[in-house]
Amino acid sequence: MPYEFIKIDKSERVAILKLNRPKALNALNTQVLKELDLAIDQLDKDESVDVIIITGEGKAFVAGADITEMKDLNAEEGRRFGNFGQKVFRKIEKMEKPVIAAVNGFALGGGCELAMCCDMRIASEKAKFGQPEVGLGIVPGFSGTQRLPRLVGIGKAKELIFTGDIIKAEEAEKIGLVNKVVAHEELMNEAMDLAKRIVKNAQKAVRYANIAINRGIETDIETGIEIEADLFGLCFATKDQKEGMTAFVEKRKAEFKGE
Ligand code: CAA
Repeated sequence: MPYEFIKIDKSERVAILKLNRPKALNALNTQVLKELDLAIDQLDKDESVDVIIITGEGKAFVAGADITEMKDLNAEEGRRFGNFGQKVFRKIEKMEKPVIAAVNGFALGGGCELAMCCDMRIASEKAKFGQPEVGLGIVPGFSGTQRLPRLVGIGKAKELIFTGDIIKAEEAEKIGLVNKVVAHEELMNEAMDLAKRIVKNAQKAVRYANIAINRGIETDIETGIEIEADLFGLCFATKDQKEGMTAFVEKRKAEFKGE
């Protein structure tokens, strides 16, 4: 599929989706969001892909939603723009295949929100995070008010959102916004290494675990453990469960087929 602002490379069952609008620091305008939406659908269906890495071209991961496009919107148009970004990010969050954000630089506003809808975040030491929206007269609009407190706690999320402070990768790791900070040159190797450590496992089990965590975190623990029990049961209907446990008993390496 031809994209103007997205590049996709695939190897060893991992797809790297790169936002490629470096002149505007990969700012998310409607076209970039539409392409991202399509690319996610494409990778979700692609049976040669188990894990997706999202990163950015140039010095930014994503410097936010496109301020030039938003500048003259009225209330209804603003709501529609926000809703569209929310919808795309929710799709990423709900995807069963694991998604890793490899944060190469600025992750501000919509960029921080994009990183947060991914399952895991690896950051370059050069990355910077923040929700600077109130300095522009708006609130975070691609679900930052919802995901940031869930990730870092209400107090820290309010501090970041009310002040618009930009924090370094090291601080982002300290507050639990990113999983790991690595040397800039090592970012893609580290993200690939994480992806491969996932790819070697039984993919149905990985996806069921993702569903259990995502659905469980949004409900009470009683419902959550029921969801887990259902998915645990479903694993026993997969060939990979038989292979994984047989291989253990036979003291050999399992050969998973994703079935
Ligand atoms: N929207 C549109 N264009 C953007 C952009 C954005 N969010 N961020 C950067 N750009 C553009 C700049 O306008 C500039 O374009 P020109 O060369 O045509 O002037 C180009 O990208 C390079 O940017 P700078 O010259 O500003 O680069 P810098 O290195 O001096 O500064 C920066 C980098 C600190 C990230 C700065 O660009 C910046 O503050 N960007 C805006 C960050 C921001 O406020 N993000 C939140 C947006 S609102 C939002 O995201 C709402 C939401 O939740 C949905």
